[in-house]
Amino acid sequence: MNVQLPVRSLEARYYTDPKVFEIERNGLLARTWQFAGHASQLEKAGDYFAFEVAGESLFCIKDKTGEIRTFYNVCQHRAHRLVEGDGSARVVVCPYHAWTYELTGELRAGPNLKSVPGFDRKKICLTSVRTEIFLGFIFVNLDDNAKPMDDWFPEARAEIEEFVPHWADLKPLEWVDVDEKCNWKVSVENYSECYHCPSNHPTFASGVIRPETYDIQPQGYCLRHTTECQNLDAMTYPIDLGSNPRAGDYSSWFLWPMFSFQVYPGNLLNTYHWRAIDAGHVVVWRGWYSIGGVDDEVVRKLAIQDRSTTVEEDIRLVESVQRGLQSRGYVPGPLVLDPSCGVMSEHSIQVLQKWMREAVDGAE
Ligand code: FES
Ligand SMILES: [Fe+2]
Repeated sequence: MNVQLPVRSLEARYYTDPKVFEIERNGLLARTWQFAGHASQLEKAGDYFAFEVAGESLFCIKDKTGEIRTFYNVCQHRAHRLVEGDGSARVVVCPYHAWTYELTGELRAGPNLKSVPGFDRKKICLTSVRTEIFLGFIFVNLDDNAKPMDDWFPEARAEIEEFVPHWADLKPLEWVDVDEKCNWKVSVENYSECYHCPSNHPTFASGVIRPETYDIQPQGYCLRHTTECQNLDAMTYPIDLGSNPRAGDYSSWFLWPMFSFQVYPGNLLNTYHWRAIDAGHVVVWRGWYSIGGVDDEVVRKLAIQDRSTTVEEDIRLVESVQRGLQSRGYVPGPLVLDPSCGVMSEHSIQVLQKWMREAVDGAE
């Protein structure tokens, strides 16, 4: 007779071992779609900003045709860093010996290059990085052969367009960064189950969602959260339910491994971006948006309410879990997998932990 054993949670070392973190940083982060910034940060040709993915310095820059390109932030002469922070440039000039590059990455000129026999300027170009604009958000992938985002996250783009019909007019209004002393996976797991919601999020569970309808299901490498909402008239901000079919709905799309689009009733888009610092430290960037980026009291209030309730409640949980994962007394417990799924089930954690294992095992 086959005795079915419960599925156990991931072993503690995945969350605590610096070697595992290194494997993720050099492997997983280098072959998945990573958030770079919002397209509205680059308004005109030559606007750029630098950022980091998988320990690499990169920068996004808008060319003269309006295309946003991403390059490794390294000069093709003797490897000096090209740009810092953000700014605007007619051409990219390396600070070391003043080689200049076009906004398309091609070498344009350099002091005394004519004296080099056989020098072919056309053979030198900055190393480009795969870039996709997903509903106004810039994502990059260090893997040139990676499948497009629509393959990784089927249906997500069309669904978010439906929930955020005005997405093309949105600009960032506020970034709130939340420091968590835990492994990024502890925080992502906490985001990806609502088994803890009834006991920890009174505002969320009684004010916005109908917990008995909450579910999280994989959709490719996306974890899709759906729920019915309640008490829309008791919401802390006004909602025009007649404005579009999704005006009263909540939903979220977690894009493996470190980004999530979340929509609150009223078609209010907000985002999560987990930036893993080391094995025991993650910074969660909460992005809030408004039409044209103009000050919007509803969005600001919601950002504050979210920070002081759900986010604050979650920090305590994830930091306690990280301490517990370091305890010799911890034995990974069984996941609560309810065949009918729903809010009191951890089936989404089983999916996540499978992806987490795959990212590390075999690469050790
Ligand atoms: S390293 Fe950039 S010009 Fe020399
Ligand atoms: Fe939570």
